[in-house]
Amino acid sequence: MSAKSIVDVSLAQPGLTYSRDLFGHFIEHFHRQIYGGIYEPGSPLSDERGFRLDVIEAMRELKPTVVRWPGGCFVSSYHWVDGVGPERTPHYDKAWRVFDPNTFGTHEFIDWCEAIGAAPFICTNAGTGTAEEMSDWVEYCNLPSGSRWSNLREANGRPDPLGVPFWSIGNENYGDWEIGAKTSEEWAVLVRESAKMMRRVDGSIKLATAARADLDWTLPLLQAAGKYLDLVSIHGYWDKLDTVDEPSPYLTAVGASLGPQEDIQRTADIIGAVGLAGKVGIAFDEWNLRGWHHPWGNDEVSIAARDRNDDNSTYTMADALFSASFLNSCLRRADVVKMANIAPNVNTRGPLFVHPDGIVKRTTFHVMSMYANLLGSKVLDTHANAPELGGAGVPVIDSLATIDESNSRLTLVLVNREPESSTTCEVRIAGHDLDGVFDATVLDGPDKDAYNDIDRPDAVVPRKGKAQFKNGLVELPPHSVSIVEVDLPISYTAGAVVADARVGGWSLSPKGWER
Ligand code: AHR
Repeated sequence: MSAKSIVDVSLAQPGLTYSRDLFGHFIEHFHRQIYGGIYEPGSPLSDERGFRLDVIEAMRELKPTVVRWPGGCFVSSYHWVDGVGPERTPHYDKAWRVFDPNTFGTHEFIDWCEAIGAAPFICTNAGTGTAEEMSDWVEYCNLPSGSRWSNLREANGRPDPLGVPFWSIGNENYGDWEIGAKTSEEWAVLVRESAKMMRRVDGSIKLATAARADLDWTLPLLQAAGKYLDLVSIHGYWDKLDTVDEPSPYLTAVGASLGPQEDIQRTADIIGAVGLAGKVGIAFDEWNLRGWHHPWGNDEVSIAARDRNDDNSTYTMADALFSASFLNSCLRRADVVKMANIAPNVNTRGPLFVHPDGIVKRTTFHVMSMYANLLGSKVLDTHANAPELGGAGVPVIDSLATIDESNSRLTLVLVNREPESSTTCEVRIAGHDLDGVFDATVLDGPDKDAYNDIDRPDAVVPRKGKAQFKNGLVELPPHSVSIVEVDLPISYTAGAVVADARVGGWSLSPKGWER
């Protein structure tokens, strides 16, 4: 058992309202995410459109607000017009070096988003594509009939605009792996001209573009095109399976938990440096702990290696805890992070594994479900003082607190990164020890390497129970994510007096919480 950790929740400030797009998703034409993932015509588990109904039901549990599509690297040589209308020509996808039947295109994506209750976020081809092709796609989706491309949409069965609110220019165009990679100078000009044309078709769209937490790339981009943008996209995978072909063990993986907040800070600094703070936000529109197995070089070897991304035993409590910490980092910086999309949502390293006979909810699925269903709408200031996790360079505890719209339900997230031992944590709210028994949802599983699979789908599932706080102290199980729901007014340590502790209409006096 490690030394005591202290979590202080401040009620001095009003909560920070965050965007629910932080619980967003990403799906790409890559290795059974679309075909054999969300879309499987002919399967007894699919509807008449080919959408897997078990996937739709699971996705709804995650209350997704937004899904990014169709890539990823896939998009950088994708021509959207080949994926609409009755005639679909299969194409050879030069990003992933496989055939794509093109039977899942814009209409299917919009329909699937409607089915799961999410808004579509289309990423455009800025690799081999042009500003004109990007803006034509906006025209196809969002303009009322009457123009060349909106008339084509009508001819394809959708007279009303599809109303795609989120768009992005390009994907990782800074990387030499990307088809049509650009220099930073080329990128700044292409984004400026593409954004101009896209906005002239529909001025209401929320527009993002490929950026990174790097001054040399993002500064010239924002200087040239910042006034046309709402968001800069950044991506993060911290366990680099393409270069180190083995999943990192628990401590290394959990030790990467501070990476996201460093990327957020670096990117926010660049946005601030060009005077766009408050105008341009961050979309962390691909994130996951693990990258993907894809040793470069020999095609057959690298394509076959992708199958190992589907190995469910890779996705353990380390993935769950990293994901919780990732979401905490975004929520704490909700002033600047406006969207985050787990990459992908289905198969490879996603939270949902889909196979011909059903689905497996991986550990990360349950974290996403807990966050989407239990958190309040505003983030409170929280400070954790915790010892360092041996050898991993991160604190033992990560914490977050939210409050709901009525300011009456406080939700505490407590992540215990200790792999084998429980941690004693003292929780103080407005300087007062939390005292009492509260509803809690805990995800831990039998051990730190536990995972779910076809033959053991419920090895790791959230447990509903109670958390007991005595004089502020609570015992957190090893490798766990706990979400505790505290209805105000709460009992507190007798004799405590804080005149200025306020949340909404509540205040703390010697008699307790009062309106
Ligand atoms: O998910 C695979 C790839 O990872 C995406 O296509 C790319 O954007 C990222 O590098």
